[in-house]
Amino acid sequence: MTNNIHKPMPDTGQDSNEILQQLDNFKEHDPNYKDGRVWSLVYYLDEDHSAFIKDSYHKFACENGLNPTAFKSLKKFETDVISATADILNGTEEVCGVVTSGGTESCLMAVKTYRDMAKETRGVTSPEMVIPESAHVAWFKASEYFGVKIRLVPLLDDLTPNMKKLKKMVNRNTVMILGSAPEYPHGTIDPIAEMGEIAQKRKIPLHVDACVGGFILPFMEMNGEDIPLWDYRVPGVTSISADIHKYGYAAKGASTLTYRNLDYLRYQMFVNQDWPGGVFASSALLGTRPGGAYAAAWAVLQYFGKAGYQKLAKDTLEAVNTLKAGVRAIPELEIMGDPKGPLFAYKSISPDLNIYAVGDQMDAMGWQVNRNQFPSGLHAMVTAQHLKVVDQYIIDLQTAVNTVKANPELGEQGGAATYGMLAHVPLRGMVKKKVLEMYSEQYRAGGGELDMAAEGGSSGSGKLADKILAWWVARQTRKSSGGK
Ligand SMILES: Cc1ncc(COP(=O)(O)O)c(C=O)c1O
Repeated sequence: MTNNIHKPMPDTGQDSNEILQQLDNFKEHDPNYKDGRVWSLVYYLDEDHSAFIKDSYHKFACENGLNPTAFKSLKKFETDVISATADILNGTEEVCGVVTSGGTESCLMAVKTYRDMAKETRGVTSPEMVIPESAHVAWFKASEYFGVKIRLVPLLDDLTPNMKKLKKMVNRNTVMILGSAPEYPHGTIDPIAEMGEIAQKRKIPLHVDACVGGFILPFMEMNGEDIPLWDYRVPGVTSISADIHKYGYAAKGASTLTYRNLDYLRYQMFVNQDWPGGVFASSALLGTRPGGAYAAAWAVLQYFGKAGYQKLAKDTLEAVNTLKAGVRAIPELEIMGDPKGPLFAYKSISPDLNIYAVGDQMDAMGWQVNRNQFPSGLHAMVTAQHLKVVDQYIIDLQTAVNTVKANPELGEQGGAATYGMLAHVPLRGMVKKKVLEMYSEQYRAGGGELDMAAEGGSSGSGKLADKILAWWVARQTRKSSGGK
């Protein structure tokens, strides 16, 4: 039987060395993160560190953490990682939790836990969660997946959530409140202590999304930085997500989700005592759980220890401060809000300077800069590795600003035009529909190959945006010529 599958399975196997060579070749079009020009996605330090986490991963690449009683090694790694996390988050012996596959799984699980808890303990059948506009997109995903309605707290001018509005949004259907430390778009640490008071008073769980901050803010504080309280020292905080595969510099696939005590965690667990395959219990989203990710997470915590992470936090903060000072020295630019952690975003305050055009110029100089929208801006997720490139970044940023000022038409071209237009398409539902269509198409077996150079960047892809722009322009043209 024939089919039209574009890339069928090879009829016979191939030589392993050749395959490994091919794998290396596939990297050709990937972002080159090793020279420090990529911001977010990858947390790279150097080849020695990279080799170490790969070796640790390989030792357990085939082992499965599905059943905690089978591979005792993996359960030990998980227990040690959770204990170390509870320690740096200033928890007590009561703190409990799981290692998950990443920040998104940690966020999803917290929503499921609090939804189920509210249902069982308070009979809530129309669950809602109160989250600031700056919450990571994973929380919107969780809302869709688990049917928990979002009450969206608007931001004040300083990009902190409007606490008066937050207070009013809490009602009998509220299953949880969310704060971030820090949030992804601008790096603001939400007022967790204030949120904690509201949460305690209203007896609502408060989750802190520290997927970004969990493995760096504690060490910045140990270094003497003035960081507002956001962890288990805030009495109302009931759970925290903290990613080891971000500022913990572990291999991909490692985050933690901890709870203040087992009273919460038990609502996360899944048990089926009647399954023909045997009594089944699972602590989080995954069935099979990758042993390699656990081993690498455990190994990296032992490798750095508190002192190692303090040094990484120090270098990161030095890089952040140098970058911020450089941005502040450019009169047309402004840092958004008051970011305290390892990331920040900046925007144009000059009507003559299109910030997306500045981004295009930076890209042309070999940087991979993420874009923000609402308001338009550029984003920097800074790691210790970036310390060696920050001076060049600032020089290039000034050059980019000068180029765009001298050539304002650049704001009407390329990515700048696309991003500008995308942010202004008024019917957001139509943008969603179009993105859905295009994304789905890329997952068809036998379909066109994904353009390896096109996708990437947590802020979206330029090429995809180009296609949406083309669609939008065509649609406008049809409308103005009488079509539908
Ligand atoms: C604040 C925050 N929460 C959650 C996530 C999701 O993490 P992941 O990409 O590991 O799923 C991110 C990712 O950047 C984040 O910044």
